[in-house]
Amino acid sequence: MDILVRTDASAVATTAADILARYARAHATIGVATGSTPLATYRELIRRHQAGELSFAGCRMFALDEYVGLDYSHPESYHAVIHRELTDQLDIDPANVHVPDAAADNLQQACRDYEAAIEDAGGIDIQLLGIGGNGHIGFNEPGSSFDSLTRLKTLHPATVRDNARFFDSPDDVPVHVLTQGLGTIRRAGHLLLLATGQAKADAIAAALEGPLSASVPASLVQLHRRATIVVDEAAASGLKNVEYYRFVDENRPEWQQ
Ligand code: PGA
Repeated sequence: MDILVRTDASAVATTAADILARYARAHATIGVATGSTPLATYRELIRRHQAGELSFAGCRMFALDEYVGLDYSHPESYHAVIHRELTDQLDIDPANVHVPDAAADNLQQACRDYEAAIEDAGGIDIQLLGIGGNGHIGFNEPGSSFDSLTRLKTLHPATVRDNARFFDSPDDVPVHVLTQGLGTIRRAGHLLLLATGQAKADAIAAALEGPLSASVPASLVQLHRRATIVVDEAAASGLKNVEYYRFVDENRPEWQQ
């Protein structure tokens, strides 16, 4: 794991955008995430695109997850969120932006189709991830199998409460979702996990320095051969080994820069 500690959320976004820009230039397939954490990174990517520095024309994107029971036209469907917050403001072909089809009549088939679409694209080159306060990634709640593929999941009540801020009432938050599995995420070539704020400190400490455990789905990053974790000081505040992570970052060999 490459663990990068940055002063604040804005510096996290700059570092994440630097990493993602390298993939955009290579016309890569990029896995994108919803939630609040990646928004600053998306704004930075859009800024670079609008400044003429970065094109996504040759890229494909796959979202991690989608709510079941929300129409695509609902502003909080992840289909709507990804288009509004990111792809509509870039030059990526909309036909190359994929979100699990949670409006399908046959959800199991929709999950299989999503896995097939990822495979047909040659796999995901880099997968952007946030982390839930309970250690989830995507909507893989505690107890998710490390081998799981895209499937229907039931949200944890804590996640429903967390996400209620996006809806008029907690009762409006869908309880069911389609999400890439941990096995899907694990197959991506590079994992880029972002976390900002004190509320993520315990989850980050458990994921990076606790045991590998299905109870902490984000501990999957410990199994991955190429995982970059970018955190701000607050999210890093529960890490015991942070002196070493900073030392590695400050003494990066030239070939790695
Ligand atoms: P957040 O959500 O970025 O809104 O904190 C992350 C997540 O739950 O995966």
